Amino acid sequence: MEGEPQKPKQVTCYLLFSLGTAVIGSLQFGYNTGVINAPEQKLRAFFNNTWMERYGEPIEKGTCTFVWSLAVAIFSVGGMVGSFSVGVMANKFGRRKSMFIVNILALIGGGLMGLCTLCNSFEMVIAGRLVIGLFCGLFTSLTPMYVGELSPTPLRGAFGTLHQLGVVIGILVAQIFGLESLLGSDKLWPVLLSLTVLPAVVQCILLPFCPESPRFLLINLNEEEQARKALVRLRGVEDVSKDMQEMKEESMKMAMEKKVTIMELFRTANYRQPLLIAVMLQLSQQLSGINAVFYYSTGIFESAGVTKPIIATIGAGVVNTVFTVVSLFLVERAGRRTLHLIGLAGMSVSALMMTVALLLKHIKSLKYLSIAAVFAFVAFFELGPGPIPWFIVAELFSQGPRPAAMAVAGLSNWTANFLVGVSFPKLEELCGPYVFIIFMSFLILFFIFTYFRVPETKGRTFDEIAQGFSGAPRSSDPSGEAPPPRDSSTLSTSPVKEKV
Ligand code: GLC
Repeated sequence: MEGEPQKPKQVTCYLLFSLGTAVIGSLQFGYNTGVINAPEQKLRAFFNNTWMERYGEPIEKGTCTFVWSLAVAIFSVGGMVGSFSVGVMANKFGRRKSMFIVNILALIGGGLMGLCTLCNSFEMVIAGRLVIGLFCGLFTSLTPMYVGELSPTPLRGAFGTLHQLGVVIGILVAQIFGLESLLGSDKLWPVLLSLTVLPAVVQCILLPFCPESPRFLLINLNEEEQARKALVRLRGVEDVSKDMQEMKEESMKMAMEKKVTIMELFRTANYRQPLLIAVMLQLSQQLSGINAVFYYSTGIFESAGVTKPIIATIGAGVVNTVFTVVSLFLVERAGRRTLHLIGLAGMSVSALMMTVALLLKHIKSLKYLSIAAVFAFVAFFELGPGPIPWFIVAELFSQGPRPAAMAVAGLSNWTANFLVGVSFPKLEELCGPYVFIIFMSFLILFFIFTYFRVPETKGRTFDEIAQGFSGAPRSSDPSGEAPPPRDSSTLSTSPVKEKV
């Protein structure tokens, strides 16, 4: 993806095995995002039955909606805490051991949800979702970190996209397993929710065969020999001096560039602009309303009069996966800014289409407009607003402030995810068919912001991007176009300067 000649010998089965093992974490994030969608009615019925048994009367509609939205959205509260605390854990235990330990949360969360009907407790669903959120929040940083640190430099961009691909495949698997004929039935839905335990066990079995990140071994622990051994296995060649040299240079650079705390990040004028952009892009991803679709699409399709809503939901998952792959191929050609703008514009038109579909649902021939609108909404999301905000934060900051910036960005993402999750059912009750107008308004605002404030980062090194924010006149004109990419031969002889 990065335009440099790729060396096939750098991709060994062992590397792919290790990356594949880590990406199980991304799958888990996707699975738990998508899994709550299909069994909505089963869960509501379960809440009602439990209520009846305890209090001898049916649950009020408002209370039921509240409990349901809480079960959906508390996942993001866990995600906020998890994503914010990942730095401490990854540095203390290392990347591989952290992934191993974090899986305990999947066992606890999956166990709570799986046993909720036996114990007659809807609180266990809510507690389980919270723990699973914590688990996913940690993995949304652990997986990209481990994958990035293991990948050979020329392939880091391509492998980096495996995270979002894992997420969207996880969502799709959850949607398929959620079918009534599979695990979405009256009896089996607790199994559907607890299935997250299985990949956790598989990952724990595989992780001991994976190496610790060589970068962590060398830069954080100063264990040069161990790092070299891990690299020899990962690259499949004895001579790994180039990689070792690159890591040492990175290590020196890190030592020179002061680590920036979150408070300093906010206080330093030079970081304000990129921080604003990073946070706004995360907000644009979540306030686009994408998770209103992934958490609640079955209900949306139902209210639009679609007879087989679950099939339409699975269709959305397929479109989601296909367009993530499309974006993967386009992003280095079209650029981040352009794709993000196209995505936001396309999503706002789709949101309008969705509103029309909901308003005109009584016209039979327009029944499928809602499906087309949701598919278009999801496709435009994956072109830009889905994958780009996750990786652009790393591009906007240099080594020193990057971890703090990623924590702030992660927290913003999960907070907005929470707000949408918790408020959507209530908003839908209040606004009826007009609910997607809210997201449309946000999308237009974010389009304007992106147009005026977000620079193109394609083909620019971390240093060049950081310099663009440091008071020096921005190389980009108001349209934000990047300067011509640098000569690739210069890039390949300069291992420390990562091309972005
Ligand atoms: C991104 C978002 C996540 C969303 C997913 C949909 O990964 O961060 O919240 O559910 O895309 O594909």
